[in-house]
Amino acid sequence: MKTEETLDPDDWNEARRVGHLMIDDMLDYLKTVRERPAWRSVPGEARATLNEAAPQDGAPLADVYETFKTNILPYPTGNLHPGFFGWVMGNGTVTGMFADMLASGMNPHVGGYDQAAMLVERQVVSWLSELIGFPKDATGLLVSGGTMANLNGLAVGRNEKAGFDIREMGLQHNDAPRLRVYGSAQTHNWILKACELMGLGREAFRAVPVDDAYQIDIAACRALIEADINNGDKPFCVLGTAGTVNTAAIDDFTALRALADEFDLWFHIDGAFGSLAALSPGSRALVGAQSLADSIAFDLHKWGYMPYDVGCVLVREPEAQEATFAQTPSYLTSTTRGISVETTYFADKGIQLSRSFRALKVWMSLKEQGAEKLGRLIQQNIDQAKYLEGLVRDHSELELLAPVSLNIVCFRYREAIMSDDDLNALNSEILLRIQESGSAVPSNTILDNKFALRVCITNHRSRLEDFDQLAADVVRHGRDVFGEG
Ligand SMILES: Cc1ncc(COP(=O)(O)O)c(C=O)c1O
Repeated sequence: MKTEETLDPDDWNEARRVGHLMIDDMLDYLKTVRERPAWRSVPGEARATLNEAAPQDGAPLADVYETFKTNILPYPTGNLHPGFFGWVMGNGTVTGMFADMLASGMNPHVGGYDQAAMLVERQVVSWLSELIGFPKDATGLLVSGGTMANLNGLAVGRNEKAGFDIREMGLQHNDAPRLRVYGSAQTHNWILKACELMGLGREAFRAVPVDDAYQIDIAACRALIEADINNGDKPFCVLGTAGTVNTAAIDDFTALRALADEFDLWFHIDGAFGSLAALSPGSRALVGAQSLADSIAFDLHKWGYMPYDVGCVLVREPEAQEATFAQTPSYLTSTTRGISVETTYFADKGIQLSRSFRALKVWMSLKEQGAEKLGRLIQQNIDQAKYLEGLVRDHSELELLAPVSLNIVCFRYREAIMSDDDLNALNSEILLRIQESGSAVPSNTILDNKFALRVCITNHRSRLEDFDQLAADVVRHGRDVFGEG
């Protein structure tokens, strides 16, 4: 007789042994992160094992785990490392790692339903709302990250302010006006993805010039809105950013709120990392006016230091998200008893139906660490940025390329006799040498046509000496490259 199969272990004791080994190894790995290079390229041998034909026959878990340890674990992006300052990446925590394991073990479907996981997410959304200064009855949900959170907020804003039933009619009817959204030219590229995906086209995004502080120019924004209205187009949203990706500039939210009210627009804030500055009493005021937005998006996997991936979107008007996303097919109707009470509570607030229990790592992290400690770490990063700014200002061969408003420092190595073009090439080479040496991982951007070494500090493991080291490395490599030229 044919025996039926399952994916549960044949030998639970062996599964337990390997599982415990994994936990021990990962704790050692995290404890010793400083001893390894911040980054190294994946060598050929490891690459080859990651380019094999699909396995038809299984192998023991212990063997698969060995391959992971040899060929995958040693070659991460490096964002765990105290010297990692590239792009905007968080580091993760032991608590977050454990929580992800528990969440996968429980493996609930968090579209809604009468279950604890749904209540955990509801609790977390309410905590986050309170912590960043949003109204208590704002609604929202956790999503995979800033891009998705911003897309959600923008979609709600579009449907609220389009002036016609966009869910029913779409954008393809003859009378549909050209919808317009306004944000600074420093807005992260999520906005272009969103405009393309929402069928608005890239031209719907009106990139407004910034001032010397890299903040949106409000007068220029108003002028663009007026010109578009005169042209017969339909403005629907103004965007503010709490911490722009290039320089961490924070827009003037009070002025943007007034502009939104003046023209009856939705006001959305992208606070991907900067919003969480609200957790630090010393920096809260910088983003205090984010409470004025109609919707706001931010990440926990950036400045919340939690493992990927988890972001959050909040909408002030409690009904607005459902008005954009809710659908009730017969197979998902709620009942008053049984499991299907509030079946689609979260599915109705976003695009995903099947949703993971990413709320658990947020809940556990906040419970274990407390918001005050997170606030202190955020402030520590802001202070470290000021420290690095000081090192740059004090060194005659280093030049600051943008004001330091929060946690990003953009600078370059400079030789007075070199042109900007040559300095761009030289600093690009410095960047690659630092990354390849494994000492640190800054990233880069272009500011005013100048190649900038960009140091974004969302790292709970960095110490002041890491910035001394970085500044010294930039100078040393700069002199070397200059000397070779
Ligand atoms: C300001 C800003 N907005 C949005 C995003 C996109 O967030 P995510 O990478 O979580 O999708 C980023 C990413 O760095 C960002 O810095």
